[in-house]
Amino acid sequence: MQTPRRHLLGLTAAALAAPLAAPAALRSPARAQPAPSAATAALVRKPIPSSGEMIPVIGLGSARRYEEMKPGEDTAPLRDTWRRFEQLGGTVVDTAPSYGNAEAIMGGLMADLSIRPNLFVCTKVGVDTIEQGRAQIEQSFRNLRTDRVDLVAVHNLRDITAELAYLRELKQAGRIRYVGATTSFDRQYEAFEAMMRRETLDSIQIDYALDNRNAAERIIPLAKERGMAVFINLPFGRGSVFRATQGRPLPDWAAEIDVTTWPQFMLKYLVSHDAVTCAIPGMAQARYVDDNMGAARGRMPDAAMRRRMEQLIDGL
Ligand SMILES: NC(=O)c1ccc[n+]([C@@H]2O[C@H](COP(=O)([O-])OP(=O)(O)OC[C@H]3O[C@@H](n4cnc5c(N)ncnc54)[C@H](OP(=O)(O)O)[C@@H]3O)[C@@H](O)[C@H]2O)c1
Repeated sequence: MQTPRRHLLGLTAAALAAPLAAPAALRSPARAQPAPSAATAALVRKPIPSSGEMIPVIGLGSARRYEEMKPGEDTAPLRDTWRRFEQLGGTVVDTAPSYGNAEAIMGGLMADLSIRPNLFVCTKVGVDTIEQGRAQIEQSFRNLRTDRVDLVAVHNLRDITAELAYLRELKQAGRIRYVGATTSFDRQYEAFEAMMRRETLDSIQIDYALDNRNAAERIIPLAKERGMAVFINLPFGRGSVFRATQGRPLPDWAAEIDVTTWPQFMLKYLVSHDAVTCAIPGMAQARYVDDNMGAARGRMPDAAMRRRMEQLIDGL
């Protein structure tokens, strides 16, 4: 059984009850680049509804940069990224068999840095038959060099009913801890919603960004109603919010929520949604970890501030 030490650094009961507000101890000015000595400073955490387990509201995604890695390419920047992430208290890491060598790279990094017990490892299964599913999941265990994966989610609804049934068997057997489903496509929302009503899941993963808020209309509220944790993929809207904000100064009022950079602005908007559990920005550079983990510290936007953030982005 993994006993991640980070779980012991959970939020206060007050923060649990009011996820939009950071605990008093966290209401210090945010720092864009926390020093390594700040490594153990508490992060804002939220519970996985099915268990109550607390996880930090910012995780690490491994699509793209990891997918693009060539055999023999220098992994030192990724090593620095992961070391930094773990030092700063990060736990949730997300990957998928379809992200090239990402799973194997992650397995290597976790073994080299000896940090597997501190992490909450998420991967996916995305195939067309249960035989393929069984084989793919076994390969994920080998790639990740672990005998237990924290969360396995069915990727983009592929063979969803059969794969979920198998994932529940694995959960029963103690080889995985949570079962989920993911999508990042609007065209799948209708089927995804029907699946959420039909199935019992620990979590969903969905695309949501300041300039891509469709998931907040039905999917995310439904997850809350059904007691499912919500992980956010594509939190920067495939980079579109970066393009829209490039060269623009942050509004003065961003200081009221301890935000010092645009990425923190975008991420705090997402994780302050009361039904959102954790956003997983893709990160392959340590400086992005320093920046993005700042979104898990300090004051969070309330409903009025969230509207103001939307209006600002909509007006660009
Ligand atoms: N259906 C699904 O299940 C699904 C679909 C899509 C994604 N996902 C998951 O969600 C994760 C996130 O999606 P994503 O990586 O495609 O998109 P994203 O998180 O919206 O954007 C990631 C890109 O943003 C850049 N970035 C990150 N932090 C930054 C910062 N502080 N300042 C400036 N740039 C920053 C990085 O650029 P550089 O490239 O320059 O490092 C990175 O490639 C994936 O890694 C994956 O784990 C799941």
